[in-house]
Amino acid sequence: MKYKELGKSSVKIPAIGQGGMGIGGYLSKDSHQDDNQVKALRLGFELGMTFIDTAEVYGNGHSEELVGRAIEGIRDKVFIASKVSPEHLFYDDLLLSAEKSLRKLKTDYIDLYQVHWPNPKVPIDETMRAMEQLVRNGKVRYVGMSNFSLRQFKAAQAVLSENEIVSVQVEYNLFDRNIENSILPYCESESIITIAYSPLDQGQIAGDYKKTKALEMIANRYNRTVAQVALNWLISHPSVIAIPKATNPIHIRDNASAADFELSDEDFEEISRVFTQKYIYAPTDRIRVIVGNRQVYQTVDEALENKLSFVPSPLDLAQDIRKDEILKPIKVTQSTDESGKYDYDLIEGRIRYWAWVIAHQGKKTIPVYVCEEQKVNA
Ligand SMILES: NC(=O)c1ccc[n+]([C@@H]2O[C@H](COP(=O)([O-])OP(=O)(O)OC[C@H]3O[C@@H](n4cnc5c(N)ncnc54)[C@H](OP(=O)(O)O)[C@@H]3O)[C@@H](O)[C@H]2O)c1
Repeated sequence: MKYKELGKSSVKIPAIGQGGMGIGGYLSKDSHQDDNQVKALRLGFELGMTFIDTAEVYGNGHSEELVGRAIEGIRDKVFIASKVSPEHLFYDDLLLSAEKSLRKLKTDYIDLYQVHWPNPKVPIDETMRAMEQLVRNGKVRYVGMSNFSLRQFKAAQAVLSENEIVSVQVEYNLFDRNIENSILPYCESESIITIAYSPLDQGQIAGDYKKTKALEMIANRYNRTVAQVALNWLISHPSVIAIPKATNPIHIRDNASAADFELSDEDFEEISRVFTQKYIYAPTDRIRVIVGNRQVYQTVDEALENKLSFVPSPLDLAQDIRKDEILKPIKVTQSTDESGKYDYDLIEGRIRYWAWVIAHQGKKTIPVYVCEEQKVNA
């Protein structure tokens, strides 16, 4: 395993950790596979992936419970990163969330406590005051952010008086390299760890796509798998660690040894060249809003009303979008609609889509990644 320094601290964390979303369920609890999932986490720890990322929202708390089981007897060997949800960012709520997470994790301290998503409704200084209180009490060792834009990240750092933010967790994989335009260079220059989430694009990288064929050729030269090459490419960036989620023992072993080789400069460049998908701009009314079986608003009025109580609401997010342009592009595929009304089907970013429509009264084209095949995310 390769290690990286956590921010400006002297703590070293593995370059490949483990993702905890889907361990114990996604948005609701799933306890069908508890024993297997605890076993999977423990195998990962034994193989050196001792960084585990979880969140209070994963499996509605069950992910943290399973992590708590997996670390029994080896707490000091494992670096636990958890996250507080955007609806709990007021001072008292945040402290309460941390207590609940500590209980579920069966530990006295969380190594890295991250704000999962920004919430424009809550003043950032209130959130960060609670974070500093947790650090003062020894309940949290380090503070991190997730899904923050560079502007939001700097604003959060500016209100901290006793701590520095050590990490930012963002989506980063060969199919989504958006962070290279802003937050990644900042992290590299400020020695802040970039935690790459969905590093395998939710398993798509290892799928059978045109572009992964190129990766396969490189992987063969190293006698490695496509997933290993994709992870290695990510962690070749000095500030980046990757947190693939895996429950299949073959995948776990594969990921654990993804840091054990060096890509040549030529191969690193070749991969960077092949995966240069840039986002494009599409008219919002040419995008069909259907996101699998997830609940989604169909009209701007529904989005404004926010009956489903999304936090942040599309309206709140619209205010942020006006300041930042957009946090990250939404994802679409070519539309399967035969009426000719739509060019694209939305597959990821149902709140961001409506927030963009609201922010610009439907008059401005939206940045989209056009994905090769259908997959459905939150
Ligand atoms: N901060 C945020 O908002 C946020 C958002 C998304 C994710 N995350 C974090 O990032 C973690 C990872 O992201 P993710 O779960 O979205 O996606 P991911 O890690 O990119 O992909 C997970 C999928 O890839 C498969 N896989 C894992 N290793 C593989 C390998 N070596 N070869 C082939 N397939 C492999 C897994 O299968 P098996 O499970 O069957 O092994 C699983 O289906 C999450 O668990 C979570 O901790 C954070």
